[in-house]
Amino acid sequence: MNALSRRNGELHLEEVGLSALAERHGTPLYVYSAGAIEARYRDFTEAFSGHPHRVCYAVKANSNLAVLQLLVQLGAGFDIVSGGELERVLRAGGDPAGIVFSGVGKTVTEMERALEVGVACFNVESEAELMRLEAVADRLGVVAPVSLRVNPDVDAATHPYISTGLKENKFGIAIGAAAALYRYAADADALLVKGVDCHIGSQLTRLEPFVDALDRVLALVAALNRDGIELDHIDLGGGLGVRYHDETPPTVADYAEAILARLGTRRETLLFEPGRWLVGEAGVFLTRIEYVKENEGRHFFVVDGAMNDLLRPALYGSFHGIEPVMNSPETPTTEVDVVGPVCESSDFLGKNRMLAATAGDLLAVTTAGAYGFGMASNYNSRNRAAEVLVRGEHDYLVRRRETLADQLALEQLAPPLPVSG
Ligand code: LLP
Repeated sequence: MNALSRRNGELHLEEVGLSALAERHGTPLYVYSAGAIEARYRDFTEAFSGHPHRVCYAVKANSNLAVLQLLVQLGAGFDIVSGGELERVLRAGGDPAGIVFSGVGKTVTEMERALEVGVACFNVESEAELMRLEAVADRLGVVAPVSLRVNPDVDAATHPYISTGLKENKFGIAIGAAAALYRYAADADALLVKGVDCHIGSQLTRLEPFVDALDRVLALVAALNRDGIELDHIDLGGGLGVRYHDETPPTVADYAEAILARLGTRRETLLFEPGRWLVGEAGVFLTRIEYVKENEGRHFFVVDGAMNDLLRPALYGSFHGIEPVMNSPETPTTEVDVVGPVCESSDFLGKNRMLAATAGDLLAVTTAGAYGFGMASNYNSRNRAAEVLVRGEHDYLVRRRETLADQLALEQLAPPLPVSG
């Protein structure tokens, strides 16, 4: 489903015209299509319908409560990486029995809370974490369900900052060291071995790394079986890429076919942790051109959205499409850099773009539904953007724009301090 379309010259998300939306809620503004998220979720589960599976949405990609609520309604499970994400999922009505808890740095408090509510599984990332989890569960008199997140040492062929399955990354347990830890976990009264987990990186646009990782995981599973350790599930993480520019990521049907072919007759439940693939293309980021300027022959659109709102271009050099919300045939096309007001040279949303727009016009930054708002900050004391969810012709404000009062609420002045001189 392509939720974004141009009608009578105006960009719409589902049935909602984006100009009026921006008028009503102001800019910068994130807008998400519920229909697009739903279509993706259904495509994913459909692709794996021949095999027991569960889609555990990676909450970090977009943790807005209404987005989580939608995924709860669709029947999704969740992949969380913090106590905060756990509480968000619970607030959205998510069932703890559908939650897997990933992340390299789980604290004692986070473990206690996750055990208390009864998450489905901890994806354990180190020996030290396994020992800590065992001790916490033992103290609480409960049994902790565990998977070991193994690092299969495959090259995900993606941006180094979002590649996680190479042995030099901080993530997971070296696959060669996993069998001994499984033995330990299988013998521990406070631990229950549930599965195995691997996640090799994000925005993958080829199938080979997934297949290579799966082969290595399956070799481990076979070795564990020989040692008398049976698993309920195999968690293959997330990582399936989307189209930002001219990438041609595999379809979910191709992804499923490749994985199911490799799995052969194994019947363990498959878990997946897609984030970007479910929500990335469902979102646009709206920003208005404040100024048009020229420096030494270079043209700039200075917009009201910035790196604090959408960090990906600044942090990874990522490409996002940028389009005027209204076509205006009489406006000349200029090659411009679209930059924000933040005082950093890396504060750009796009460079060298051919755009027919001018001051006051609204721009849509596309494929902004994943790792957009979630990575936003208050840098330069900017209020974070509002978020709107659309469904059909309806739109719902699902996070109001932050105010300066929100920003200042946690701070206070110190008593007058002695100043030298
Ligand atoms: N599972 C685990 C354990 C993860 O670490 C991640 C993402 C996912 C699942 C979801 O991956 P996805 O399906 O979204 O590729 N901020 C970066 C992406 C960081 C991804 C971190 N981990 C970006 O904007 O590209």
